[in-house]
Amino acid sequence: MSEVSANPNIAFIKYWGKLSSTCDEDRNLATNASLSMTLHKARTQTRFEFSGQSATTKICIGQKPASTADVEKTTRHVHRVLQALQHRTDLAFSIESENNFPQGTGIASSASAFAALTFAVALEVLGPRSFKEFHGKNLALLSELARQGSGSASRSVAGPFMKWEGKAATLFPARFGLRDTILIFSRDHKKVPSSEGHLSAQSSPLFSERLLRLPARLKQLEQALLAENLGTLGPLLEEEALELHEIARTGTPAITYLSPESSQFIEFLRLQKQRDFYFTLDAGPNVHLISERDISADLKVLLAKLNLKCEIWEDEQGFGPEY
Ligand code: PMV
Repeated sequence: MSEVSANPNIAFIKYWGKLSSTCDEDRNLATNASLSMTLHKARTQTRFEFSGQSATTKICIGQKPASTADVEKTTRHVHRVLQALQHRTDLAFSIESENNFPQGTGIASSASAFAALTFAVALEVLGPRSFKEFHGKNLALLSELARQGSGSASRSVAGPFMKWEGKAATLFPARFGLRDTILIFSRDHKKVPSSEGHLSAQSSPLFSERLLRLPARLKQLEQALLAENLGTLGPLLEEEALELHEIARTGTPAITYLSPESSQFIEFLRLQKQRDFYFTLDAGPNVHLISERDISADLKVLLAKLNLKCEIWEDEQGFGPEY
């Protein structure tokens, strides 16, 4: 049996919009390059083992049997990884997968889930020693396979910073020590899955201008990361996050991800000029705050002042899956 834990990542430059694909290898190719920070505490823990030819495949997510749609998606991904490793695909298997953070809330559980599953299947097939060597030499292949499960998973195969361009993500060579403190305003499942968001984005009249703007924003953000300059990085994070939500709001169908509470918090924050923490957002109502120092005490004061209630998830940067 193999056991792997992988972490979600928070995108600083977002993957929002897919190229159309004609084959499985081209699944989830992005319309733009993206860059993210891998998290450390939030994780998906996945156990994988073959159960023999006469057994039936069992897949449990969060200690419950997976839905038919999740069984299909997961089985397809297992076969994808087995085929890439030239391993037979006729064996039944069992998978147990669990998150230590709430699912579907803008902490990208599909990223950690598909990164963990990709690693767990490869580890089981190759065995610990060969896998270690394979991992060292084939990070791009592992990223490419994880991407075929879920685009953002391509960036959860290592850390702390990952740049995804084309088929796979690679390490971006910055070592800026950043934290991500997440304000969980809602634990409800996302109203609109990101697959629909990626589609609707391209119908927004703002989408083509975004694609033109992104290379310069990405370059500036890379420079700020390398220079370890949060004062330059922060406004770029906020501009990028707001743009994703504006694209979602102006696409067809229009999608509103923010809740009244998260909007109120962001509006307040934008008026505070002297800050050493900055927000970013995923496709959900929760607010990620990027900082160098521990800001949880300040946030509690701020939330009380605004009369806002939420859970706080304190995370920091991580270095990729553990097995
Ligand atoms: O990997 P997906 O299809 O769940 O897309 C994730 C998209 C965002 O989280 C909103 C942005 C990103 O780059 O992670």
